[in-house]
Amino acid sequence: MKRARSVIFPIAAVACMVSLPALGWAEGPVLGGQRFLPLKAQLGQKLFFDSDLSTPPGQSCSSCHDPNAGFSDPDPRTPTSKGVIPGRFGSRNAPTAAYSAFAPAFHYDPAEGLFVGGQFLDGRAATLEDQAGMPFLNPLEMANPDKATVVRKVRQAHYADLFRAVYGPKALAEVDRAYDRIADAIAAFENTRLMNRFSAKYDAYLAGKAELTPAEANGLRLFEDPAKGNCAACHPSAPGPGRTPPLFTDYTYDNLGVPRNPANPFYGLPAEFNPEQREFVDRGLGAVLARSSEDGKFKVPTLRNVAVSGPYMHNGYFASLRAVVAFYNDRDVRPACKSRFVGEAEALRRGCWPRPEVTHNVNRDELGQLGLTDQEVDDIVVFLQTLTDGYRLPPVTE
Ligand code: HEC
Ligand code: HEC
Repeated sequence: MKRARSVIFPIAAVACMVSLPALGWAEGPVLGGQRFLPLKAQLGQKLFFDSDLSTPPGQSCSSCHDPNAGFSDPDPRTPTSKGVIPGRFGSRNAPTAAYSAFAPAFHYDPAEGLFVGGQFLDGRAATLEDQAGMPFLNPLEMANPDKATVVRKVRQAHYADLFRAVYGPKALAEVDRAYDRIADAIAAFENTRLMNRFSAKYDAYLAGKAELTPAEANGLRLFEDPAKGNCAACHPSAPGPGRTPPLFTDYTYDNLGVPRNPANPFYGLPAEFNPEQREFVDRGLGAVLARSSEDGKFKVPTLRNVAVSGPYMHNGYFASLRAVVAFYNDRDVRPACKSRFVGEAEALRRGCWPRPEVTHNVNRDELGQLGLTDQEVDDIVVFLQTLTDGYRLPPVTE
């Protein structure tokens, strides 16, 4: 039997703690066709898109967080992101970096008995600033040997003067402080309207400026109904206090029972990076906290731009949204596949789901047996497509 999430994890309290950062996008002057961004955010934007900041050069934050793919990895060929050094891959699918600014700092909520917030799918960076300093030095990502290398590259960049204008003439002189400023500027950019657009059809609908089609409206109803999809229990879809737009995540952590992804290139990495080889199991939050009671739990992601940011889940197991919703619907109904290593396409063909990557802590109360019809699954997928930014109101005709 499914229990309403509110019984176990009242989310209203969590939602209230999510304070909205002031969106640093001054309305007003238009410079060179671009709206005016505060200087620090302009600097952060330059850093975010600078592909010279890896070793060897060639990879920027935007390589894996591309605005044209909802600020996620645009490369559909591998489920996890490739690093700048050929043959290296991370173990996880790149989530969208958009809307990350809204995550509260990582903390334990004693009233709810839950871990909440933080950056990365396992919350290992407490804040956006902490997060922004990490990819530069990750050997499986931008692969710089040390902070000094990154700072040296910024000193030589065409925007070095802008950097000094923002942080002072000696801003790049001392490595550790300069490095912290790099992260600070990137976080400032991540706080702007450019990365938090709130311009989806669903936003226009909430503002009373667009109508949902019957299929979209039905999908929304199913998404919110605790006795149907029950999605909003973890991906809240209603505006918050003061009509703040919904972010489609309550920033809590859950093990959905997602299977291992045999196509994850991380399994094939040298033992230096993956000592367990094919036995590698991503424990998520459990590894960060060194607690088996949190094993397999990953942060609830926003669903904004989800239609353009596939593949899905921490290991990119699902290529399609249709399969994601089917999995929520009948994870506990279909027979278990014989092998632990069965990819999405084969599982769908055989009508089975493989065992979860982490078999303990699987949430069986709120998903796995939703009893949705095929049409209802389709309608939820249609609704998810209303969450893509850049919706234009249809032209007015006679
Ligand atoms: C090689 C690909 C790659 C590059 C380059 C990269 N990222 Fe990421 N990013 C990822 C992956 C993969 C994750 C999830 C990793 C995890 O959870 O362990 C992630 C997570 C994030 C998150 C957290 C999102 C969330 O929902 O918790 C933010 C924010 C982010 N990246 C910003 C950046 C910034 C800023 C840069 C540049 C300094 C950058 N990324 C460079 C792949 C990349
Ligand atoms: C119990 C909380 C919970 C419920 C209920 C829930 N989700 Fe999720 N959702 C999550 C978590 C946690 C993840 C990430 C899991 C992972 O990566 O292993 C996720 C991931 C997703 C993703 C993948 C997003 C991405 O960028 O990879 C989609 C799509 C999604 N959910 C849609 C839905 C829909 C549709 C429903 C209702 C049918 C739903 N969710 C119900 C917690 C929940």
